[in-house]
Amino acid sequence: QTTLRGAADAIGKDIGVAVDANRLQSNAQYRDIVASEFNSLTAENAMKWDATEPSDGNYTFSQADSIVDFAEDNNQTVHGHTFVWHQQTPSWVQSLNATSMRTAMVDHINTVANRYEGRVDSWDVVNEVVSDNNGAMRDSFWLRTMGEGYITTAFQTARAADPNADLYINDYSIDGINAKSDTVYRIAQGLKSQNILDGVGFQAHLILGQVPSTMEANLQRFVDLGLKVRITELDIRINLPADSAELQQQANDYQRVVEICAELADCSGVTVWGLRDADSWVPGTFPGTGAPLLYADDYSKKPAYTAVLNALGGD
Ligand code: G3I
Repeated sequence: QTTLRGAADAIGKDIGVAVDANRLQSNAQYRDIVASEFNSLTAENAMKWDATEPSDGNYTFSQADSIVDFAEDNNQTVHGHTFVWHQQTPSWVQSLNATSMRTAMVDHINTVANRYEGRVDSWDVVNEVVSDNNGAMRDSFWLRTMGEGYITTAFQTARAADPNADLYINDYSIDGINAKSDTVYRIAQGLKSQNILDGVGFQAHLILGQVPSTMEANLQRFVDLGLKVRITELDIRINLPADSAELQQQANDYQRVVEICAELADCSGVTVWGLRDADSWVPGTFPGTGAPLLYADDYSKKPAYTAVLNALGGD
């Protein structure tokens, strides 16, 4: 197999990419690579609450629709991102009281999940609900207003709305075994015992040379709970400018992460968080770092591309 997509298909895995609806529409080169190299799509922003329901009951689906249409045209699965997050949620939601916030959450999940039922294969139901502080729950408006039960409410609602979609809990810095992934593990155990959770998403926004040594064991312990695992937002950032040794190290890091998923039957796949380095969120958030993806700004393939292809069994 000579494409990521061909190699991933051959081993029954998703190889996904986070996409932007405007770029898909306006840029033919972007569009062609997304279609030919990936068998799964995630909307980088278009399915988030601020994009889909900017004001109460006022749903705007044009960008999300165009991504799902594109996926359907190109025979790609869709991993939906995301129903409940503390970011990119409009302020009208954040200021509601507990009863109204619950109603808003239930309406939102029902409306979005129903719209894409049968077309979106899996959902990040909740995103980043654990803090970076010793594995405590994240102190978000969701937690402060609704209490910890907001997570169960979200999953129960999503399960009822689309019983065939796989439901995921998704977070960053949980790739290895640590206090934060321990907390996700406990939450996952509870949700799984109620049969309202199918998988755990490991974002894997990694730093060059820092693939956690416990990553494989960590994913395995979630699989042992009877859950699927998925690498949902992979990127590996480098201090700029990146030299050729660093690009080779990045390739090795990518290879390691993708191999972990390839070798684990219950790992549904890997999604990279953007196509080209120029499309990445990284330089804006971590100034002085970047070049975290598989394609350079001119759409040429980086060493990391070949490493991922090899890890998927292609060449
Ligand atoms: O759409 C507006 C546009 O109208 C406006 O002109 C422009 C000016 O700043 O902003 C545009 O919105 C930006 C949006 O991306 C779309 O490009 C937002 O400012 C910007 O904050 C937003 O960033 C996104 C970020 O989530 C928001 O938290 C990134 O693209 C996206 O990659 C990033 O993705 C998150 C995952 O959802 C969850 N895990 C972490 C990951 C990285 O932060």
